[in-house]
Amino acid sequence: MKIIIGNDHGAVELKQRIIKHLESKGYECDNIGVDSEESVDYPDIAEKACRKFLAGGYDYGIVCCGTGIGISISANKIDGIRCALPQDVFASRATREHNNPNFIAFGGRIEYKDPVEKMLDAFFDSKFQGGRHQIRVDKIMSLESGN
Ligand code: RB5
Repeated sequence: MKIIIGNDHGAVELKQRIIKHLESKGYECDNIGVDSEESVDYPDIAEKACRKFLAGGYDYGIVCCGTGIGISISANKIDGIRCALPQDVFASRATREHNNPNFIAFGGRIEYKDPVEKMLDAFFDSKFQGGRHQIRVDKIMSLESGN
């Protein structure tokens, strides 16, 4: 499993935790985010991660900012990206099963009720259910070009 991961200055520690966790499970992580507290603009990071992901060679993308909100909004503006922003383990599992996201976002300044590592495991260990959910995902994607 190859993951591209990007973050702004609001999620340096969280990004490092995520990489440590995923690497311990044998995933390969390509870190295109920042590793200092110097202020950067999260839309730039989202764009870089998404464009590189869409060029191929990755299974999933992860983006993180202070809240996870700005960077997930930015990622979702790019055609082909479905970026989930789960609140807990339940939502992490449900979004994989129902929305089939290719990106997942987290906030480095958010106090989640579940550890992000457990949210990641719930996401990666579950499976898209297809069927009626595929119809809905197709409808999401058809919104992209104003169809
Ligand atoms: C940066 O200060 C902060 O605005 C950003 O990390 C994020 O929380 C935006 O949604």
